[in-house]
Amino acid sequence: MATPSATPSGTFAIGGDLEVTRLGFGAMRIVGEGIWGPPRDRDEVLRVLRRLPDLAVDFIDTADSYGPEISEDLIHEALHPYRGVSVATKAGLTRQGPGRWAPVGRPEYLRQCVELSLRRLELETIDLFQLHRIDAKVPREEQFAELKAFQDEGKVRHLGLSEVTLEQIEAAQEVFTVATVQNRFNLIDRHSEDVLDYCEQHGIGFIPWAPIASGDLAQPGGVVAQIAAAHDATPGQVALAWLLQRSPVMLPIPGTSSVAHLEENVAAAELRLTDAEVAQLDAAA
Ligand SMILES: NC(=O)c1ccc[n+]([C@@H]2O[C@H](COP(=O)([O-])OP(=O)(O)OC[C@H]3O[C@@H](n4cnc5c(N)ncnc54)[C@H](OP(=O)(O)O)[C@@H]3O)[C@@H](O)[C@H]2O)c1
Repeated sequence: MATPSATPSGTFAIGGDLEVTRLGFGAMRIVGEGIWGPPRDRDEVLRVLRRLPDLAVDFIDTADSYGPEISEDLIHEALHPYRGVSVATKAGLTRQGPGRWAPVGRPEYLRQCVELSLRRLELETIDLFQLHRIDAKVPREEQFAELKAFQDEGKVRHLGLSEVTLEQIEAAQEVFTVATVQNRFNLIDRHSEDVLDYCEQHGIGFIPWAPIASGDLAQPGGVVAQIAAAHDATPGQVALAWLLQRSPVMLPIPGTSSVAHLEENVAAAELRLTDAEVAQLDAAA
């Protein structure tokens, strides 16, 4: 089999000047169960990370809270000094155990996060720094102002948000230029359609998390399964191809801990769905 490549997914310029290949990689799945502790197979996840440049994947999404710390540490071990690969990280979620996440947005905590991510990733500037969640217990203007300060100080190049509404994006835009928004979006979860449309209108990158999910649509006889069979593809590849065709600002970040799954996901960049298939999938939510 020829080496798959993310290149056919095209590029997007985050914040107007950070050009990345649209089909990226999510590094949440390279740690332990519950996104807690070390991975079951450390050597395999290092192989996954080192395979990314071979497949023309140059955009990695991670967070300090994945592990915690372990995802960033593994990315550093596998790929530093990165050579054209952009590592986007996030801050603002703390961890109390497997599957447990609690937002903390106090400015001094966010500052600790950026300093420690810079240290772990061994970077002088983080290409894209995202607020993982707005902390409802802290005035959001304080959180936004602290992020803007990181940018003014050269610690981060671009700023993004995660799991936000239109109103929250507009409030943040008063303080800094929102370069990306990362919300859950896939074939079976379209709750952020309005946010996606806003991002497209404003040139903001939209990073859909859980991009592969297709639920019952992928069951035998389901619309995703039928379209996959017609293309000799997998349901996951159809889910990714549909996202890529949905909008030019779409930056899917499928995550995996296996090289075989990584290669399968990247091969979706070459899958072109017909207009009729896209319409069927659009209607299938
Ligand atoms: N901003 C947020 O709040 C937020 C929340 C969640 C995730 N994220 C980001 O979004 C990224 C993607 O989200 P996600 O990990 O939830 O969803 P996903 O990428 O849609 O799915 C990942 C799951 O699917 C499996 N998988 C991946 N490729 C596969 C394949 N080809 N065949 C079969 N199984 C496959 C993985 O297991 P294997 O390891 O076995 O392949 C893993 O369990 C994360 O890595 C993270 O960077 C952000």
